[in-house]
Amino acid sequence: MAVKINENYLMLKKNYIFSEINHRVNNFREENPETNIILMGIGDVTGPLPKAVIDKFEEAVKEMAQPETFRGYGPEQGYDFLINKIISNDYIPRGIELSEDEVFISDGAKCDTGNIQEIFGLYNKVAVTDPVYPVYVDSNVMAGRCGPMGKDGRYQGIVYLPCTEENKFVPDLPKTHVDMIYLCFPNNPTGTALTKEQLKKWIDYAHDNKSIILYDGAYEAYIREDNIPHSIYEIKGAREVAIEFRSFSKTAGFTGTRCAYTVVPMETVGYDTQSEAHSLNKLWNRRQTTKFNGVSYPVQVAAQAVYSLEGQREIKESINYYMNNAAIIRESLRNIGLRTYGGVNSPYIWIKTPDKMNSWEFFDVLLSRAHVVGTPGIGFGPSGEGYFRITAFNTQENTIKAMTRISDLSI
Ligand code: MLT
Repeated sequence: MAVKINENYLMLKKNYIFSEINHRVNNFREENPETNIILMGIGDVTGPLPKAVIDKFEEAVKEMAQPETFRGYGPEQGYDFLINKIISNDYIPRGIELSEDEVFISDGAKCDTGNIQEIFGLYNKVAVTDPVYPVYVDSNVMAGRCGPMGKDGRYQGIVYLPCTEENKFVPDLPKTHVDMIYLCFPNNPTGTALTKEQLKKWIDYAHDNKSIILYDGAYEAYIREDNIPHSIYEIKGAREVAIEFRSFSKTAGFTGTRCAYTVVPMETVGYDTQSEAHSLNKLWNRRQTTKFNGVSYPVQVAAQAVYSLEGQREIKESINYYMNNAAIIRESLRNIGLRTYGGVNSPYIWIKTPDKMNSWEFFDVLLSRAHVVGTPGIGFGPSGEGYFRITAFNTQENTIKAMTRISDLSI
């Protein structure tokens, strides 16, 4: 007898995409120590936290140093002061009413989108857009919901919804019944957004099929165009069929500070084998109270400061800064004849690789000849092959430098 492993892990790709990129970049650095590499791979903010946030963060840390104001465990679901700010700033102005116990504060949308599958049955059919943020797929593989990977790079148990140039990166509804649907809009990695009408079709599908939509809105703050919903609950009927994930990471520079939230409306339900409905809100609450002890008090105070007048002004400024980079990237790459998508309502620019190069070949060309790192589209799924993602998260100086280097390659 010996300890056994969870063999589902053996079905995963060897490395998580961003670890694989780091590995290759580090190898290149070792062999070429003098090179100045510009990182535009992982979507990680580069600017500091807003001053309004830092000021409150510091105050809260000091509170933790005094016996009168020290706090131990907080509510697992988050402090009311932050939940109320979220509801009154992110939802009420868009005509959406939420109760406090529908919002769960967490340490990241990555964790929540990875963990949410735990409250669902193992025999549910999962659908993902392809390409897709790898966490949705991998967390379901770990749970044993996806079966082995076929030769085409697709897990046999998952329904893939291709998003390509042909359908303008707008996924078609599944042709067969699916139970759990992961949608991320504005999309990571393609940078495209869905209109209200396009999203409404998914809500209707979910109603007709008694499915659940797991809606990742981490890039909502980057939306620029009208008629692009900022929350799935702007669309009638969504409360019954959608869970929404939001994050302070890309909105307010919290990638290293960690704070996010998930909305699980009271109306959302899943069914047991006797077809009896159960509240998903209750199940998620049960999961979180068991496995999670909440986000630290200073971090929640810091997140609350995002909603102050000054905080709002500062985050708008930094988002505009990144979106200006996105425009520089789009224009520079178009000027050298590359086909680019996204970057209008999102910090990601999705590029069709030139000369039918595959994604990793293009990665190698950019790394070795321009010393610029992006993310190979294949890392997000089979339909990402032949595409490449560049992020707008960098300084303007580096963005211009990277674009000049790529333009000089004459590809
Ligand atoms: C990405 O680059 O796709 C994201 O930044 C990764 C993440 O948010 O976890």
